[in-house]
Amino acid sequence: MPISKDLNWFNVYGIPGSTLNIPNAHALRLSETLLSQRVIEGEYVLLYLDQRRTYLVKVEAGKNFHTHKGFIKLDDLIGKEYGSTVESSLGVQFTVLKPLLRDYIIKSVRRTQIVYPKDIALIIVYSGIGPGSRVVEAGTGTGALTMALAHFVRPNGHVYSYEIRGEFLETAEKNIKRAGLADFVELKNKDITVGIDETDLDAVILDMATPWLVVPHAYRALKPCRTFVSFSPTIDQTVKTVEALKENNFIDIETVECLVRGIQTEKGKTRPQTLMTAHTGYITFARKALNHTIANYSKQ
Ligand SMILES: C[S@@+](CC[C@H](N)C(=O)[O-])C[C@H]1O[C@@H](n2cnc3c(N)ncnc32)[C@H](O)[C@@H]1O
Repeated sequence: MPISKDLNWFNVYGIPGSTLNIPNAHALRLSETLLSQRVIEGEYVLLYLDQRRTYLVKVEAGKNFHTHKGFIKLDDLIGKEYGSTVESSLGVQFTVLKPLLRDYIIKSVRRTQIVYPKDIALIIVYSGIGPGSRVVEAGTGTGALTMALAHFVRPNGHVYSYEIRGEFLETAEKNIKRAGLADFVELKNKDITVGIDETDLDAVILDMATPWLVVPHAYRALKPCRTFVSFSPTIDQTVKTVEALKENNFIDIETVECLVRGIQTEKGKTRPQTLMTAHTGYITFARKALNHTIANYSKQ
């Protein structure tokens, strides 16, 4: 089936040009989901009661979704315009929202600690990845970061995600499928410290215990100038990783920590929230150079 000439890829993906090399049926399915202003059967919606109570629900004909505020007939949702409301059996209004990437991440079924949106935002921008990028990631864990990487490399890029513990992959796969991103991810039950199978990569992105052991493999697998990113909860891991990067021809090495403070906003009472997440991890970025040696660092 040919892609409709009317289909404007700039509007769909924010990419100038329309030379994307992806299967047509696949492209049409994606565009239908992304552009639809109305709820489609089989898709997920986010039912919003208030800031604390939101529910990620698959719209299945003939089924009900039960909450403490009564149940919602899922048939009532099909064809409804996003942003409108639906009433529960107890007469409580829920707003029907189109789930965002962050909803799929926050509501993922968790087997491990995950990377949170605040850190993911930096990882995406600093890594330089975008539509068409080829990315290797480890470990998959719950698949939260995997979903974000897949979201940004689509429609014609790919994420190869390594995970040493096979039992985590099943849950990660379910999370990734639920977000509609499975076509852009290959899950691999492998120890990444042994080696990286792929070459010509645009980024190697790590959230695992021993990232420094992956640095030499990452150097071989990356295209020149492309990026290495590592998220680590401890300073000890970060220092070992930075030392390995210096020894392996990486430059532009930078480590940051991202602290996000919520603001309670109400007329006459606006101030920072009392509680915040004080620590998640340190993020180290670097780029692959061709001729920089460890000696250059001591001269700088
Ligand atoms: C903190 S979790 C990753 C969470 C993930 N980034 C997310 O957002 O859901 C770390 C994962 O790395 C995996 N891991 C540790 N060492 C590994 C290795 N050498 N190769 C592949 N995976 C590894 C662990 O099994 C664990 O699932």
